[in-house]
Amino acid sequence: MDSILVRGGGALNGVIPIAGAKNACLTLMPATLLTTEPLTLTNAPRLSDILTMTQLLGSLGAEVASLQGGQVLAMSSHDIHNHTADYDIVRKMRASILVLGPMLARDGHAIVSLPGGCAIGARPVDLHLRALEAMGADLDLRDGYVHAKAPGGRLKGAVVEFPFVSVGATENALLAATLAKGTTVLKNAAREPEIVDLAQCLQRMGAQIDGIGTSTLTIQGVDRLGGATHPVVTDRIELGTYMLAPAICGGEVELLGGRMDLVGAFCEKLDEAGVSVEETPRGLKVKRRGDRVKAVNVVTEPFPGFPTDLQAQMMALLCTADGVSVLEERIFENRFMHAPELLRMGAKIDVHGGTATVTGVQKLKGARVMATDLRASISLILAGLAAEGETVVSRVYHLDRGYERVEEKLGACGAHIERIAS
Ligand code: EPZ
Repeated sequence: MDSILVRGGGALNGVIPIAGAKNACLTLMPATLLTTEPLTLTNAPRLSDILTMTQLLGSLGAEVASLQGGQVLAMSSHDIHNHTADYDIVRKMRASILVLGPMLARDGHAIVSLPGGCAIGARPVDLHLRALEAMGADLDLRDGYVHAKAPGGRLKGAVVEFPFVSVGATENALLAATLAKGTTVLKNAAREPEIVDLAQCLQRMGAQIDGIGTSTLTIQGVDRLGGATHPVVTDRIELGTYMLAPAICGGEVELLGGRMDLVGAFCEKLDEAGVSVEETPRGLKVKRRGDRVKAVNVVTEPFPGFPTDLQAQMMALLCTADGVSVLEERIFENRFMHAPELLRMGAKIDVHGGTATVTGVQKLKGARVMATDLRASISLILAGLAAEGETVVSRVYHLDRGYERVEEKLGACGAHIERIAS
């Protein structure tokens, strides 16, 4: 297992290109199952999770050609000969559950392994299943798999009201509804930019969707969808992550492709902490206003609130802030596993249930730390950039799931960072 060595040092200055969104690409790729015509995604990120989804779709019979170094995914699901998403692939990546809705909508049957939990929480899929049942699916859960059938081979439109916001359940239901017979209304739907991106791609394929970007989506099912070429939206979580690099180290960094509308709540918090974000013709330019950020309080919420996927990274910044910050994690039940690792670096953090109280220190100290999940891993790298001495982050396979070429991107801005092959 590789590690990453970071030597804390001075300010970071330069330019970082932001890739296409992992969490958009992972829901766009299963859309290929809804058509027999080619679906091509451009601006795709080069990440291990994308390779896992490629492997899963391939196991079903889809063809996924990775072109231009992985930035273009040319997909064709002309011949789907297998309708079982196997546990060995699904267990590696929870987003695999997103093939259930499209497979059911395409051919009226599917067998998909339940994804199981992960480090940050139990992460059940009950909302996904209830939505598909509302659309007429017969679901039988046995042997750790969902055995799904649509009576008569086709789902039917339904009104689905989610008891709370779920990104994945909204995506599965939206994908399925495009080919259902009749109208589907999704109430209390997630509004994340990745869902807007999916809806826009589905529209390009011929889907009829109203209410995009709102919490109520209305989908008029059609008999078939065509192919399309669609650019994956910018990754707002990678964007927010790298915006924190100059905030924690000092200096000025321009994030190419950054869009303020993707990170509104996050930018408000940065401004409150004393970090300026300026829109430029190429993206967003970020600079800390003083020598040290100010403490701020953070509550994670569904979009457009503060993203849970930036909570760990923000905690790393607040470990060096002037004052006491309170972070409340309201989306996942166990998403503070970066805290004990940050404590090893001299941070002062008290965790009680879903609330972490961070008392800022002048300087963190480099240490050997361990990545526990994707966003925790990058938060430790951010902390290491600002710490005195060397930090070695182990188990960086977590990192490679969601961040492409981290050493290259941060190194180009003057960071002392290198990968140590195991
Ligand atoms: C998506 O996960 C993202 N993953 C997550 O990003 C992100 O943290 C999350 O949305 C919230 O924004 C992808 O898009 C691939 P949810 P998802 O359904 O869809 C509970 C990252 O770091 N829930 O919105 O799984 C669930 O346990 C990853 O890139 C149910 O109880 O998130 C959680 O507590 C991490 N039953 C809450 O709802 C369900 O059926 C929100 O989950 C579904 C979810």
